[in-house]
Amino acid sequence: MEEITAEILTEGGGRARADDIEEIVDMGRRIGEVYDRTTRIHITSKGGTDITADISGMPPGYHSKRRRQIPFARNPETGRLGGGTWPFGEVHVEPLPETTNGVVVWDVTAHHPPGRWENPVALTIKDGRVVDIEGSHEAKAVRWYLETYGDENSWAVGGEMAIGTNKFCAPNTFMMRSEKKRYGQMHFGIGHGSDRGIVNSILRMEGIVDSVTVVADDTVICENGEIMV
Ligand SMILES: [Fe+2]
Repeated sequence: MEEITAEILTEGGGRARADDIEEIVDMGRRIGEVYDRTTRIHITSKGGTDITADISGMPPGYHSKRRRQIPFARNPETGRLGGGTWPFGEVHVEPLPETTNGVVVWDVTAHHPPGRWENPVALTIKDGRVVDIEGSHEAKAVRWYLETYGDENSWAVGGEMAIGTNKFCAPNTFMMRSEKKRYGQMHFGIGHGSDRGIVNSILRMEGIVDSVTVVADDTVICENGEIMV
């Protein structure tokens, strides 16, 4: 469920105006500057997420440069429109393959099964690979989806670890397109890597970890869903 809805445009993240977008961009730049000098990331949540990974190895200044750009802006040199996501507002990193270890708990919703979840799903990740999926009906549905539509690398990490930075995206919409950008939550993806071009898969499956705490080396980037940098 990644579709845009009228509610997102009129009551959610789509309400961000030009000055709000500039604020989101500046927040992204600040987080990006920390990521540019980070080796180890540690992500926790009240829902039970506790995971570490190595996020080093990107070109110098990669994250801050990328986040400094206003979305969909016209390049003055080429005249072409730049990219972006809508609603706008996330800062992600992709870990180095085989370095992610711990447990990720998707506790709101995910690409599948869509809509409101009654039970969280815990993914156990060992050396950058999902080795167990625990929970109730939702966990069975996640496993079924990966086994039915995925390939070998759909279970790899890969993916992305992304903090939402849009304060206009309301909680409890249970729509991935909006939840992904909601301030202070994380969409944690497995499968196809977002940036490195190393982990390739036909799927990237993402789910929401609410109110994350993200520590990059010794810098607290986000604490219980509040961005600190
Ligand atoms: Fe993302």
